[in-house]
Amino acid sequence: MAATQPEKKISLPSKIFDEMAKKYENGLGGAQNDIVRALLSHSKENHPIDSNSVIHDNACGPAVATSEILNQSIAPPPKIFATDYAQGMIDITNSYKERRGWDTVTVQQMDGQALSFEDAKFTHSISSLGVFMFPDEKKGLSEMYRTLKPGGWIGVTSWKDVRWPTAAIAAYEKLFPAAEEPLILPILKNWMDPESCERNLRQAGFHDVKAEVVPCVNRQLSKEIGASAFVEFLRHVSPTITSWDESTQERFLAYYSNLVEDMFSPAINGNGVELTLYAIVASGRK
Ligand SMILES: C[S@@+](CC[C@H](N)C(=O)[O-])C[C@H]1O[C@@H](n2cnc3c(N)ncnc32)[C@H](O)[C@@H]1O
Repeated sequence: MAATQPEKKISLPSKIFDEMAKKYENGLGGAQNDIVRALLSHSKENHPIDSNSVIHDNACGPAVATSEILNQSIAPPPKIFATDYAQGMIDITNSYKERRGWDTVTVQQMDGQALSFEDAKFTHSISSLGVFMFPDEKKGLSEMYRTLKPGGWIGVTSWKDVRWPTAAIAAYEKLFPAAEEPLILPILKNWMDPESCERNLRQAGFHDVKAEVVPCVNRQLSKEIGASAFVEFLRHVSPTITSWDESTQERFLAYYSNLVEDMFSPAINGNGVELTLYAIVASGRK
């Protein structure tokens, strides 16, 4: 048996994202920004952001969508509410707000499954690589629906293929060929193809829904640096791995790390290495 999604979704406590906050930003090597730019192009076509927009960046991480929106230099900038349940992510977002003079950005620690905003507050509600991993993603989407104005725009993203699970499964099969239990990974089957993402949005009440697969690039200085972020992530998120003793964990993660390193190839621009990942961007209207 190779790998499986658990019956019940793996609930990742905010502590994990607190610990990963500093590494997260570099760990995806800018792929997260490629994804948000693709998502924002949907908004441009259907419900453009302007100075009067009131935007929620939900599960903002290190202010990824917020930064990309403000990089568009809309004058005056729109109001953005950036929220996340992990204090580490909130601290980074606050430091950007201060350093970059983001006067129209409000930063708040908040669980996306229980937003403290009033109904119909936002013109745009964005959750990039966020709501799909909430323990109760239906509640997350219904909170996004509740807090959007009628006619407002929702944009969410998820992973089609983040690449590291293939290496994790290969390492498990190689090191534990007789394992009776599958390697449990947070693989999110109902968010892994555009049709499922569209269905999730429709079921939450949104219309004019569309979703597509977009490539994005994880750019790193070296393949060792690139692999180390994926090692740290997997170390924390697989209940199978956390149940092992330390030496088994290290043996497995070293093997997995080598497999991930081999996935990177020299960067096209000659600087460092890169790995193409595949995301899904999905959007709709309330
Ligand atoms: C993969 S990161 C995505 C961050 C960012 N939106 C981006 O585009 O890169 C997932 C984020 O979701 C946040 N998160 C996970 N569950 C959450 C919840 N229930 N409520 C709020 N934030 C949550 C994590 O703290 C983390 O910052």
